[in-house]
Amino acid sequence: MRVYNFGAGPCALPVDVLEEVRSELLDYQGTGMSLIEMSHRSATYDRVHRRAMDLAREMAACPDDFEVLFVQGGATLQFSMVPLNLLEDGQRAGYVLSGSWARKAYADASKIGDAYPAWDGGSDAYRRMPSPGEVVIADRTRYLHVTTNETIDGIRMPEFPDVPVPLVADMSSELLARRIDWSRFGIVYGGIQKNLGPAGLAVVYLRRDLPLASGLPSYLSYRWHVESASLGNTPAMFQIYVMGKVLERLVARGGVDALERETREKAELVYRVIDDSDGFYRNPVEPAHRSHTNVVFRLPDEQLEAEFLAAAQNEGLVGLKGHRSVGGLRASLYSGVTRQAVEALADFMRSFHASH
Ligand SMILES: Cc1ncc(COP(=O)(O)O)c(C=O)c1O
Repeated sequence: MRVYNFGAGPCALPVDVLEEVRSELLDYQGTGMSLIEMSHRSATYDRVHRRAMDLAREMAACPDDFEVLFVQGGATLQFSMVPLNLLEDGQRAGYVLSGSWARKAYADASKIGDAYPAWDGGSDAYRRMPSPGEVVIADRTRYLHVTTNETIDGIRMPEFPDVPVPLVADMSSELLARRIDWSRFGIVYGGIQKNLGPAGLAVVYLRRDLPLASGLPSYLSYRWHVESASLGNTPAMFQIYVMGKVLERLVARGGVDALERETREKAELVYRVIDDSDGFYRNPVEPAHRSHTNVVFRLPDEQLEAEFLAAAQNEGLVGLKGHRSVGGLRASLYSGVTRQAVEALADFMRSFHASH
């Protein structure tokens, strides 16, 4: 039996994608082998690769002055690739310290170059994002790094900072579920294991006119990925193949605008239960900054939270435990989580409240 999976990543994928993958696993389109056994230099794989790149661009409504790259190492490798490729001697990088993932990105950048907090929420941290005017940019800043949605803390930047430097955005947990004004961004990246496919791969959108460092080891160099169309070494073929199938469906469903709307509507179903519960369920985030993809909530005590998780599991609702660093509960509502699954969760939350 398939359960309803609200995991924060890896996460639910569309059943029809999984079925199609299964049906192709032994013999990919009459080739007599699986796609993942095939040479990555074959014409068959090349078509899958280029099609996935085209779809990743189309889905994002990304203009031609950006390259689309597929880079292994997840979003985490981007924490170091960004400063390695962008920072020159004497330049600085601003980081908006909005939550757990932003801090990880900042920690890695600090090992590589001169990174500084352009906003640190202090006691507000993890409850809200900065308002656009609160972000302070120092002299010689090359870029401002933002984490547009904090997966662990359940907060989302409603507006991007208005700054005179390019934005570099980790959009992992709302990747392609939000239309953006590309003219403000230098790099947009995200791990695909939330909205788009299996773990291990990042999609990186890189503005073509950004000056890039040279002399880096091959895999760490954006230039190397651009020149090889992300085929410089053996790519993560399975990830790219599955992502291509997910993207085909998302584009057919209406692209980024449709996914943004669907995601917001799913989140509203859960927030409504929280807000109508007279404080039984609590979400600590300022309402306008609530995440659309990661709804965090607490119950009156940890004993009840444990009971909630166990009862939910019995009903086939899984992956609802909050991140180990913060506890509580979290429902992640990525593209593969159907509205039906979210309605089942909302019903369950209401009846759990009624019986406790
Ligand atoms: C916002 C954000 N950034 C980065 C990461 C790290 O991604 P990966 O595990 O692909 O390295 C995650 C993973 O959950 C995330 O949510």
